[in-house]
Amino acid sequence: MDDMNATTKAGIVPWHVGGREIALPLICAPMAGGPTTPALVSAIGAAGGLGMLAAGYLSADAFEPLVAEVAATGVVCGVNLFLPGRIATDEELSAVRAYRKTLTPLADEFGVGFGEPAYFDEDIDAKIGMLAAYRPAVVSTTFGDPGAALIARIHAEVGADVAVTVTSVEEAVVAVAGGADLLVAQGIEAGGHRGIWTDDATDPQGGPGLSTLELVAAIRAAVQVPIIAAGGLADGAGIAAVRSAGAVAAQLGTAFLCCDEAGTSALQRAELIDGERRRRASSEADAGTLVTRAFSGRPARSLRNALGERHREDAPAVYPYVHYLTKPLRGAATAAGDADAVNLWAGTGWASVRTGSAADIVGVLRTELEAAVRR
Ligand SMILES: Cc1cc2nc3c(=O)[nH]c(=O)nc-3n(C[C@H](O)[C@H](O)[C@H](O)COP(=O)(O)O)c2cc1C
Repeated sequence: MDDMNATTKAGIVPWHVGGREIALPLICAPMAGGPTTPALVSAIGAAGGLGMLAAGYLSADAFEPLVAEVAATGVVCGVNLFLPGRIATDEELSAVRAYRKTLTPLADEFGVGFGEPAYFDEDIDAKIGMLAAYRPAVVSTTFGDPGAALIARIHAEVGADVAVTVTSVEEAVVAVAGGADLLVAQGIEAGGHRGIWTDDATDPQGGPGLSTLELVAAIRAAVQVPIIAAGGLADGAGIAAVRSAGAVAAQLGTAFLCCDEAGTSALQRAELIDGERRRRASSEADAGTLVTRAFSGRPARSLRNALGERHREDAPAVYPYVHYLTKPLRGAATAAGDADAVNLWAGTGWASVRTGSAADIVGVLRTELEAAVRR
């Protein structure tokens, strides 16, 4: 029996991040674009897990009130940053224009235009400056290599541990060499954007595609830092499994999408809860979801729908330009209750989604985890 199994068999033991103690090996994933709210993050922290605020798409000024709201509760939390990509080349911009043409009949159906395809630097500098006043326990990053300088800056100014999202052993090794304190190992089952560092336009799947369990085991064999496992985890048995594979905690996103405190749209909640239709239409392999660039220009796992499927192969790999391009279309489809033209980010465990308060869901996961570790 290795060390981690010994710990697991002893029951649920607290773990530490950024010098704070977290009672449960459970993180509620940052979910930018609506689902993450300060109420969700605070409720998770109060229930013994770790909530993560999502800074993606927001300016530092828009993000600060959300951080302040959680800080006012005194609950320990983390913050997630999208790392900015790069400015598109002329060739990529012309691919975005061609994609716009392809989508025009659909936009006409909804009576909307397109957003301005644009680069966004994610206001990273200002966000880090702002976070210094709030001292979150951990800052996680996704969509790339933060690099040693940015990690050192977060350590020095924010005083937080840095968790870097990785999808392969190669990325893990570079992240640790750059000073990452923890890794978020994101498996192919995960809902939302793939955290791949480089998006190969010829690969619609979004990278190597290791399962969460495979990835945790492979990374554990390669580096020494604590690992947070993310992707397709829907119950206490799943959390126990990644703990046994060597992860210190599990990060669950989809499992919290339908809880009371989440800001998930009514349309997405209905699509997640009314699973029958999709289960009938799905192949067993991906259980009603698919990885597609159709909505944002970066591979992301969504509930399977018409737009995601239609442009799975041909949507340009030009994030976040495509995200901004399709924003009005997605907004109009959401308002019209048309689930076929909206990104419905969800992991492969979506059919087990629960309703109720975040504390209720954490309570159920805890009971299941306790039962799994006793077994
Ligand atoms: C709706 C949604 C939004 C997400 N937004 C973010 C985000 O802002 N930042 C991030 O690092 N990961 C984001 N993710 C990915 C999660 O961090 C995590 O990898 C994923 O939720 C784990 O898979 P699961 O959904 O099957 O639990 C998002 C996932 C979902 C479902």
